Amino acid sequence: MISPDSFFPRKDGRLCAEGVPLSAIAEAFGTPCFVYSRTALESAFESYRQVLAGRDALVCYAVKANSNLALLATFARLGSGFDIVSGGELARVIAAGGDPAKVVFSGVGKSEAEMRQALAAGIGCFNVESPSELERLNRVAGDLGRIAPIAFRVNPNVDPKTHPYISTGLKSSKFGVAFDEALALYRRAATLPHVRIQGIACHIGSQLLDPAPIAEAAEKVLGLVDTLAAEGIGIAHMDLGGGLGIRYRDEVPPSHASYLGPLLEKLAGRPQRLLFEPGRSLVGNAGLLLTRVETLKHGEEKNFAVVDAAMNDLARPALYDAWHEILPVADTGGERLGYEVVGPICESGDFLGHGRDLALREGDLVAILSAGAYGMTMSSNYNTRPRAAEVMVDGESFRLIRRRETVDALFALEQGL
Ligand code: LLP
Repeated sequence: MISPDSFFPRKDGRLCAEGVPLSAIAEAFGTPCFVYSRTALESAFESYRQVLAGRDALVCYAVKANSNLALLATFARLGSGFDIVSGGELARVIAAGGDPAKVVFSGVGKSEAEMRQALAAGIGCFNVESPSELERLNRVAGDLGRIAPIAFRVNPNVDPKTHPYISTGLKSSKFGVAFDEALALYRRAATLPHVRIQGIACHIGSQLLDPAPIAEAAEKVLGLVDTLAAEGIGIAHMDLGGGLGIRYRDEVPPSHASYLGPLLEKLAGRPQRLLFEPGRSLVGNAGLLLTRVETLKHGEEKNFAVVDAAMNDLARPALYDAWHEILPVADTGGERLGYEVVGPICESGDFLGHGRDLALREGDLVAILSAGAYGMTMSSNYNTRPRAAEVMVDGESFRLIRRRETVDALFALEQGL
């Protein structure tokens, strides 16, 4: 289990990323800026590897959580596979040196162009999410003279007990194929000449803190694997998706062992290869968003700390009312006040934290923790704000892994009348 504190320690009152003071990073590259710890990424991957040791298993990092090439390359070097949801993500994986044969392609609306791209690259598996996608993929693969390896992403109708926006395995969800339809779809797929049945997949939701729903989903999927076997339809792999939660505030996520243990027990002795698609648990606590206080506004009802990061950089608080720890980089020991930590964007929803007790002065640096997952990838240019820089720290050294966007680049594709 990664705790942000181990990779972002305070040394002599100064918050650091591994051995580098965050103030040095702000000085070198400015703010706002995402800062990642390479050791944290590697240690998160290692936690999966340890629990899966001795199994035929593949971790396919969910690229959507953070798609920076340097992170992808880090995971590729560790032998990771990748879970993608677009042709763009596939291009990133290949550019970062990832092995296309270890790629699974999820998503409810794959275009024909994306199917062709993925077939040409030789990806490991298409996680098919609808009957019409199956037919289309068969046709597209036929046109290219290829065979598409497929799994159906089934919807086990299990309540993952997480935020409704990130709950994906219920019957009412747009994802996956209905559990009851899966058998008929596998039968159909078995008759198609240009697809090869490879596996079965499910993903029930994200930021899961209770291991029970995923174990329940696995149970259902296993039942289906047995039914298929009885019909002579062999399943080579079971992909149980991502979802393991992390600690943002006071959540107590299960350890890798207690999350995966019950699943592994159920699957013991099975011939199937196991796939997992973790995103957040690999990168979430390996990154923070470094920002500077622009203005302090003290009011009768509320005090505002306006920082130079905003909802366009980290959308999670505005979108899900998500809580991220906010820490001053230098522990000045001044008087603490309750602050609304907000960005400069023209929206009342542009907040990063409500009512935080902080001792702040204008110009101070502040770190917003647990921002490694769904931070940069969900950022936007709202209010014509260039997207933040990204920096990777490795021990005592650090390097820029994405330059800060320039304003010119933001309108370079536009045409003035
Ligand atoms: N596999 C599939 C098919 C997925 O849809 C997802 C996430 C994952 C794997 C990775 O799940 P993870 O291990 O990261 O929980 N933007 C939201 C999270 C959206 C998750 C979407 N799917 C957030 O910031 O909380």
